[in-house]
Amino acid sequence: MAQARPYYADRSLSAAFYEVVTAADARLQGDLDIYADLAPAGGSVLELGAGSGRVAFALAERGLRVTGVEIAPSMLAQAQARLAGLPPEVAGRVELRRGDMTALDLKRTFDLVLCPYFTLAHVPAGTAWRNTFATAARHLASGGLAAFHLPLAEIMRLPAPPRDAVVLDQALPGGGRLQLHVLERTFRDGIGRLDQVVEYVERDASGAVVRRSPERLTYYVADPEPAAAAAGLLKDRDPVPLGGVGEIWVFRKA
Ligand SMILES: C[S@@+](CC[C@H](N)C(=O)[O-])C[C@H]1O[C@@H](n2cnc3c(N)ncnc32)[C@H](O)[C@@H]1O
Repeated sequence: MAQARPYYADRSLSAAFYEVVTAADARLQGDLDIYADLAPAGGSVLELGAGSGRVAFALAERGLRVTGVEIAPSMLAQAQARLAGLPPEVAGRVELRRGDMTALDLKRTFDLVLCPYFTLAHVPAGTAWRNTFATAARHLASGGLAAFHLPLAEIMRLPAPPRDAVVLDQALPGGGRLQLHVLERTFRDGIGRLDQVVEYVERDASGAVVRRSPERLTYYVADPEPAAAAAGLLKDRDPVPLGGVGEIWVFRKA
C-alpha cells in the first residue's frame, strides 16, 4: 500500500478540507433532520466523533444541547474555531471535548446518543464496536435512543475507479480547486474491511498543484445488532436509508 497519512491526522488534507468535502457530499442530505427528530425539543445529545462540528452545531441551532466528543486534535481544533464564531446563544448549547468513543464515561446521561457519518466504521468491528455500544448505553437512561450511521456492505465491494479519475472536483475560495483520486481500494469480505488510499490534490487558480497528499481511510463493516444487544441496546426500527450508500440504525436502551 502507498505511503499515506491516516485520515484526519495532523496536517492531513482530509482534516483541512473536511468541510469542503462534506458540504459537497449529497449522500449526507437529510441526516440532520433524521437526528433532530430523534431528540425531544430542547433535549440533550451526545455526539461520538463530532469532527469539525457539522452535526453538533446544526442541532444546537435547533435548540438541542450537544456534547461532542472527538479523538483527532486536527478535527477538534476546527470545531473549537467554528464554535468561537457562533452566536453566543447557540455556542452556549455546545460542549466539545477530546475523547475516545470506545472508552468514554462522562458520568451523566443524555436524551440521545449519535454516531453520525460512518464514525463507527472507523474502528474495528469486534471489541471496539462492543465498547462503543457500551459507551452509548452508559450515557442513556432506560428508553433512550442511539443512532449509528453505517455504510452499506455492497458499497464497500465496488471496484476501485481508475487512479487518474477525479472522484471529487470542488471549487475553493480564491479560485483554486480541490480534486480527489482513489489510488487504492481493497475490500476483504471475510473480515469486512475496506482499505482505501485517497489522494487529495489542492490546485491554485492557474491549475498548479499547491499540495498533494495520499491519505489512508479504513472502514469496517459488520452487522451492528449483536454488539448493540450485548450493551443492552435493541433495534428500535428498520434502518433508515441515507443517500444510497448507508443506513442510520436506531437502537433503544432496554
Ligand atoms: C466522518 S467524521 C464525522 C464527523 C461528524 N460527526 C460529521 O458527521 O460530520 C468521523 C470522525 O470520527 C472521529 N473518530 C474516529 N474514531 C474515533 C474515536 N474512537 N473516538 C472519537 N472520535 C473518533 C474522527 O476523528 C472523525 O473526526
